[in-house]
Amino acid sequence: MRIDVVTIFPDYLAPLSLSLVGKAIAAGIVDVAVHDLRDWTHDRHRTVDDTPYGGGAGMVMKPEPWGECLDALLGPGPNDGTVLVVPTPAGVPYTQSEAIDLANAERIVIACGRYEGIDARVAEHFRTRVEVRELSLGDYVLNGGEVAALAIVESVVRLLPGVVGNPESLVEESHSADQDGLLEYPVFTKPPTWRGLAVPDILLSGHHANIATWRAEQARALTVERRPDLIRDSPPVG
Ligand code: 6GU
Repeated sequence: MRIDVVTIFPDYLAPLSLSLVGKAIAAGIVDVAVHDLRDWTHDRHRTVDDTPYGGGAGMVMKPEPWGECLDALLGPGPNDGTVLVVPTPAGVPYTQSEAIDLANAERIVIACGRYEGIDARVAEHFRTRVEVRELSLGDYVLNGGEVAALAIVESVVRLLPGVVGNPESLVEESHSADQDGLLEYPVFTKPPTWRGLAVPDILLSGHHANIATWRAEQARALTVERRPDLIRDSPPVG
């Protein structure tokens, strides 16, 4: 897989060379390039923003640098297999199923906006040339798309074959389809008692069927308590 991230703060993406994503890059599983949007400006101040038409607070990212940058990255086309991701608090919620979908792309280009966002004509234009997805991490406001880009890259790259050591750890975790979309059950390791707190007896019993039932009950109870919205969309017990 190839991932391009465009930002006015390339250093913000430095963590991509660490940990699991860094190892995936070193192993040749994914190729990540970070680009400075200002490289596609032509004025002395390398301007990327301007005041909004219609008035209002803040600044809007100008379309021309984005147009030239994305032209250069996408080439003359076709762009089958490429997804242009635009992180924005006004986007569709980013979920694990979206991550799974993106993990099947050949190439992802992530356009990180700052300020009040990117001139809306950029997404409108590139929609005619490439699949565009405007995605939001959740219902809160970040200063720009960089943190979202980090989250999206990490959540996608860990799904690529050969990145996470044990593929089973992918199917058992919170929000995966095999968990019925529930939160993950609580986990424990040694010692059996720590600061007066004992590991639930059932986990030491060696009875795999009972352990599976207990975990399913715990997952459901936790989800009812913390994320009742997920229960409505998940199949009933039994
Ligand atoms: Cl993707 N971008 C920004 N700027 N803020 C956000 C977000 C994205 N998701 C939640 N808040």
